[in-house]
Amino acid sequence: MKILYLGDIVGESSLRAVSQAIKQIKAEYGINLVFVNAENVSGGKGLYERHYKELKKMGVAAISMGNHTFSKSEIINYMDDATIVRPANLNTNHGKEVLYINYNNETIALVNLLGRVFSNTPLDCPFKTMDRLLEEINADYIIVDFHGDATSEKKAFLYDFAGKVDVVVGSHTHTQTSDATVYNNTCFITDMGMCGGYNSVIGDDPDMVIERFRTGVFTPLKVSNDSSILIQGVVIDLGVKRGITRISKII
Ligand SMILES: [Fe+2]
Ligand SMILES: [Fe+2]
Repeated sequence: MKILYLGDIVGESSLRAVSQAIKQIKAEYGINLVFVNAENVSGGKGLYERHYKELKKMGVAAISMGNHTFSKSEIINYMDDATIVRPANLNTNHGKEVLYINYNNETIALVNLLGRVFSNTPLDCPFKTMDRLLEEINADYIIVDFHGDATSEKKAFLYDFAGKVDVVVGSHTHTQTSDATVYNNTCFITDMGMCGGYNSVIGDDPDMVIERFRTGVFTPLKVSNDSSILIQGVVIDLGVKRGITRISKII
């Protein structure tokens, strides 16, 4: 089974490019399922229901989130019935902490975790949360989107859970790392990267970000409107011989 997993989609204008990219990558790699991180779709933070529906129309099977899961509060009204997984180490009863996807008589469990390094959100330990979930999950495959800043935390998570979960993909930094590997049958990458403006600062308009850095004034940021969209993610092969291939293209 081959899964295309796309990194954080930033802004509404990226959705059109994502739709196009999914068609291209599906044809090129023979993809069975498409997963995406959608924490930045709606105005750069969160996911409105109408954008969720657009992703479903594109054939996206599963959606993971991150620190911006609840940035658009309407998600609380629809997430329970949606194919969305929220970070399991957040202390909330809203949404699913494990999302089960059925495909060809096999079950995939998707888990989303938030890293604690550089985070000011009160979070349970992602490692201990995964220990707990492993006792509950009943699935053929377990895929984890570890959403965090620190490369060390994500790499340590790989070595702790290699052989116990099938995939660990990182998200949140919006910058793809070149360390995709398979270790003890677990497919891994520290960060999948993003789907957002090519000439941008991790998806945002550079001018606004420069202004914030130069002045220290908390000026509002704006999602990049660059017409070139960087599409990044990975193709994961869950066949007998496991594989993970980086995807990085401009649309
Ligand atoms: Fe993000
Ligand atoms: Fe994030």
